[in-house]
Amino acid sequence: MNRRIRWLAAAAILLVSGALLAQEGAVDAAARLAKGRYLVTAADCVACHTVPGGKLMAGGVRITTPVGELVTPNITPDVEHGIGGWTEDEFYHALHEGIGRHGEYLYPAFPFDAYTHLSRDEVAAIWAYLQSVPAVPVSAPPSSLRFPYNHRSLLWGWRLLNFRQADERPVPPLDTPVARGQHLAEALAHCGTCHTPRNASMGMDAGRSMQGGSLGGWYAPDLRPGGENSIAAWSDEELASYLKTGRGPHAVAAGPMAEVVEKSLSELPTGDIDDLVAWLRSLPQDPVRAGQPAPVPASSGAAGTAALLGELRHTYHGEQLPDDGAHIFAGLCSSCHGLDGRGGPDRVYPDLLQAASVHGAQADNLVMVILQGVHRSAPARPADMAGYANQLDDDQVAALTNWISARAGVTRHVDAAEVARLRAQSATSSRGLRAILIGVGAGVLLVLVLILLSLRRRRRR
Ligand code: HEC
Ligand code: HEC
Ligand code: HEC
Repeated sequence: MNRRIRWLAAAAILLVSGALLAQEGAVDAAARLAKGRYLVTAADCVACHTVPGGKLMAGGVRITTPVGELVTPNITPDVEHGIGGWTEDEFYHALHEGIGRHGEYLYPAFPFDAYTHLSRDEVAAIWAYLQSVPAVPVSAPPSSLRFPYNHRSLLWGWRLLNFRQADERPVPPLDTPVARGQHLAEALAHCGTCHTPRNASMGMDAGRSMQGGSLGGWYAPDLRPGGENSIAAWSDEELASYLKTGRGPHAVAAGPMAEVVEKSLSELPTGDIDDLVAWLRSLPQDPVRAGQPAPVPASSGAAGTAALLGELRHTYHGEQLPDDGAHIFAGLCSSCHGLDGRGGPDRVYPDLLQAASVHGAQADNLVMVILQGVHRSAPARPADMAGYANQLDDDQVAALTNWISARAGVTRHVDAAEVARLRAQSATSSRGLRAILIGVGAGVLLVLVLILLSLRRRRRR
């Protein structure tokens, strides 16, 4: 009798602890999924692996480059078409080293040079989350890069020059806002992919971190305190609001930055945005500009224009656009931005005389906004302005750019050739920059190999 009771008690304890363990396991699994989902958002995987309106993570996003198209793969858990047949280790190698399942080099258009800083735990959480999204049984179309750019083996040259695999270590304690912001910016959000200039072999120039880079016609400004497009003049709240909503005091996020805000930053908790701000403020100062007061955009120049433009708008009939900036502005832009360019009384539309894109170190972003418009569907602050690429020719865009710049007191001159150059660059997708550059790197490498081979042959003779 006693023995039976003891036996029952033991069984009951086993059962209860088993249930508790299972429950704990379920809680663990749920927490890991939530963490994975968060990391995937912060790392902006969706921007590249999901076609707008398409199936989550099914790939097929086309990265257009002058040497052909690179298409992103399906990373859903489908065994045949996605990464369902991969092991977690293989997945880790892809993110940490940029090595594919069959040992092939992956193109650095996939930002593994940022993801290499993720810890094994973080990658495991991303893996768990990706295993939980619906499998999509469709392969992404194949990439069509031209010879020799389609030879992955040539990427070793690029890797040799530009890729440092991070140590395999747990992430150090992220116990200060700056440390958390840095990890978020460098390992996940890959801010440097766009904001750090490229070196000669088109890797990120580590010595000039966050000092401004060009991509697909756009210019991602220098973000150092006191840098050229100084965000130093913005308060922390204004900077946070720009990152979270895409609208700052005198700047809007357009082009690739609009996508970063829309798909990633606007979805992050406020604490993360504050950490990013803390990190941005901690970047080393621009030594040239250090100590100088932050530039305050001039607001002069508007006086008298409203009356003039009112008259111009009166004479504009919409059929044939004239070639001078004032006429084009009156006809196409003043309905929203106001006859004086100041955005109207309620400032729903940006004040162009103070806009960052107008006051930028170069006119690239102003030209690009005119060509492509502003499209951002972040929930807090959506924005839509149509682009005028089809309506205005290069001369007209140049005239309009110069006219607005002069109104805002910015001295610079853009000509039609410059507009044509940016227009051509914008035809290749901004995300494709890396691939083009890598292609060039690969080409250079090929030449080196050929020279080496011919030298060897000569020596043998
Ligand atoms: C800037 C665009 C971009 C972002 C962001 C991006 N990827 Fe990719 N990814 C690519 C491209 C392009 C490839 C194809 C590379 C190649 O063919 O060599 C790729 C390849 C991969 C592969 C290899 C798949 C295969 O079939 O070989 C995996 C796995 C992957 N990405 C996962 C991720 C995860 C997880 C994230 C977010 C943490 C992410 N990617 C973010 C562009 C991106
Ligand atoms: C895919 C490329 C890309 C990535 C990734 C990116 N940015 Fe940007 N960023 C840009 C471009 C391009 C602009 C200029 C946009 C414009 O003027 O409309 C910009 C503008 C900005 C500005 C406004 C600067 C000014 O002077 O007007 C800030 C601040 C900023 N980015 C911060 C960040 C941070 C922080 C990250 C990482 C979390 C990041 N960006 C990631 C491309 C990028
Ligand atoms: C239908 C209304 C509308 C028209 C017409 C329009 N815009 Fe815009 N514009 C917008 C909106 C909306 C934004 C983005 C606001 C935001 O991001 O919150 C914008 C943003 C801009 C910016 C970016 C400002 C910054 O802070 O960097 C520039 C530059 C600009 N517009 C110039 C023009 C020019 C030049 C024209 C005429 C060719 C024009 N716009 C016509 C609505 C318009």
